[in-house]
Amino acid sequence: MLKHASYKNDPDWVWWKHGVIYHIYPRSFSDSDGDGIGDLRGILGRLDYLISLGIDAIWLSPVYTSPNFDFGYDVSDYRGINPEYGTMEDLRDLLTACHAAGIRLIMDMILNHTSSQHPWFLESRSSRDNPRRDWYIWKDGRKGRAPNNWKSTMGGSAWEFDPVTGQYYMHSFFREQPDLNWRNQEMAEALFREMKFWLDLGVDGFRLDAINLIVKDKKFRNNPLLWGIPFFQKHLYVRNRPKSIKIAGKLRELIDRYPGRVAIGEVFVLPPGEPSNAARYLGEGENGIHLAFDFSLIFSRWSARAYYRAISDWYFRIPGQGWPCTVLSNHDLFRHTNRFPFSRRIEEKSRVAAFLLLTIRGTPFIYYGDEIGMRNARLERDQIRDPLGKKYWPLFKGRDKARTPMQWTSEENAGFTPGIPWLPVNRDHDERNVKSQDKDPGSLLNVYRSLIRLRQRYPALARGRWLPLLNGREGIIAFIRGRGEESLLVILNFSGRSRVAKLQEHIHGSVLLSTHRREGDTVYMQDMKIHPFEATVYLTNWD
Ligand code: GLC
Repeated sequence: MLKHASYKNDPDWVWWKHGVIYHIYPRSFSDSDGDGIGDLRGILGRLDYLISLGIDAIWLSPVYTSPNFDFGYDVSDYRGINPEYGTMEDLRDLLTACHAAGIRLIMDMILNHTSSQHPWFLESRSSRDNPRRDWYIWKDGRKGRAPNNWKSTMGGSAWEFDPVTGQYYMHSFFREQPDLNWRNQEMAEALFREMKFWLDLGVDGFRLDAINLIVKDKKFRNNPLLWGIPFFQKHLYVRNRPKSIKIAGKLRELIDRYPGRVAIGEVFVLPPGEPSNAARYLGEGENGIHLAFDFSLIFSRWSARAYYRAISDWYFRIPGQGWPCTVLSNHDLFRHTNRFPFSRRIEEKSRVAAFLLLTIRGTPFIYYGDEIGMRNARLERDQIRDPLGKKYWPLFKGRDKARTPMQWTSEENAGFTPGIPWLPVNRDHDERNVKSQDKDPGSLLNVYRSLIRLRQRYPALARGRWLPLLNGREGIIAFIRGRGEESLLVILNFSGRSRVAKLQEHIHGSVLLSTHRREGDTVYMQDMKIHPFEATVYLTNWD
C-alpha cells in the first residue's frame, strides 16, 4: 500500500496529474556492485535522496533483457531484467520500497520494435512461412532495391535485406531494432500480455516509447520528399497514422482496468515539434493515453516569447478532459542547461527554468541530475558509447553527453561507482554534486526541493487554473495559478536585464519563494521592477 503524505489524502489529488515525475536513466544513476554500470540496487540505495526531493513517481528508462545495442531500447525479453541492472527480485524490492515511501514506479515500454535478438524475430526471420513471420514487417524489394523510400530515424534506409529469406524487413530505428507489425492481431495481443505482466506485478504505468510510429501505411506509399531532396522526407506514411491513435485508445482501456495506473506517450518528432500531433494521442482526454510529451520547449530557444508561445500552443491543443505535461530534458534530446551552444549565465537560467517547470500547468518531468544543474558533457571520440554518435562522429556526437553518471559527490567518479564508469563522469562534478548542494540553502537542488514543497502546500500550483498575465513580449512571463480562494502569481524574467512587469491592476502579494526576494515580504504591485533572471512566486489577493 502506498503511504500518503497529507496532500495526497485529498480526494481530488491525482498523482500523475498533480505529482512530480523523475526520469532515471538506470545505467547512469547509481552503481551498487562496482561494475561501472548503474543498477536497480543502486536506485534503491538512493531512495532517501528521492524522498528528500519530494517526487511522486519515478520513470525508469528500460531495464529489460537486451543486447544493449540501443541501451535497453532493443528488448529481447519483456519479462526479464538485464543482469547488468540486477534481477527480477531487485525490481520487486525496488517497487515495494518505492510504494512504501509513497513513490510510484513507471516502466518504459517499447511497442514499436524489439531487438533483432528477440526470439519472436529469430522465428520470424527463420522462414517465410513461420507462424511469426507476419509479426514483423517483411516486403519484397523493388528491382533489387528497398521496397520504398522510407528512411530510418537513425539515418539510411528503413529497410534491411535479409538473405535468409530474400526479403526486406523494416526498422524505424537501427537495423538491430526490427519494427513489429501492429496490423497482426496475434502480435498485438502478445504485446498486451507483456504489458499485463507488469501491471499485474504492480508497476504504476508505462512511458510508451515512440508510440506515434507503431503503425505504418498499409499500402507502403513513398514518403514525400522535403525540398525535393531524397535525404530529407516528411514521415507521412510512417508516423501518426490514424490506427496508431486508435491503438492508444486500446492501451487506455487496458490500463484503466488497473485503477491509478498511467500511460505516457513519447510522440517522437524532430523539430519543429508540432504539438497537435502529441495532443491527438490524448483522444478526448479520457479515451486516449493519459499524458503525451510535446517537445516544443526542448526545441525552443531561451526567450520568454518563444517559451510562452510553445506553452500556450500546447495548452490550446489539449482536449477538454486532457492534461498537459512538461519536459525540458531527456536522454535523447539533451539537458536544457547548456543545450544550445554559447550558453551563458546558465546558473541563473537553470533557476528560472526550474520555476517554470514546477509552476506552469501540467505534470512536470525532471530528468535525473537536472535538479543539481548537470550539464551536457564534452566527450572524446573513444568515450562515445551511443551507436548514433559512433556512426555520425564528428557531425553528430550522439546522445551520451546527457547520459553521464549522476554526480553525487566531489570524489573520484562522483560517488557513482567504486569501479570504472561506463561513461566518464562530467569533469565539473567536483563543484556540482548532490553532497555540496544538499546543505547549501541557496543551491539549485534546494530550489527544486522548495518548489516541489510549494506545489504540495498550495494545490493551486499543482492543479489550479492558468491565467496568463504577461506573454513574454517584454522578456517576462507572468501568470496566475488559481484554485478556489487560492491564487498564486508567478513572474519569470528570462533576460539578463532588469525589466518592469506591467500588470493590468494592482496586486497585493506576499513572496512565497524567489530567486531574489525575501520570503514573507509583502508587495503592492502594478508596475513592478523585476531583477535580471528573477523568478518569484507570490501568494496574492487576485480573484
Ligand atoms: C525512443 C527512445 C530512444 C531510442 C528510440 C528507439 O525515442 O527515447 O532512446 O533510441 O526510441 O527505441
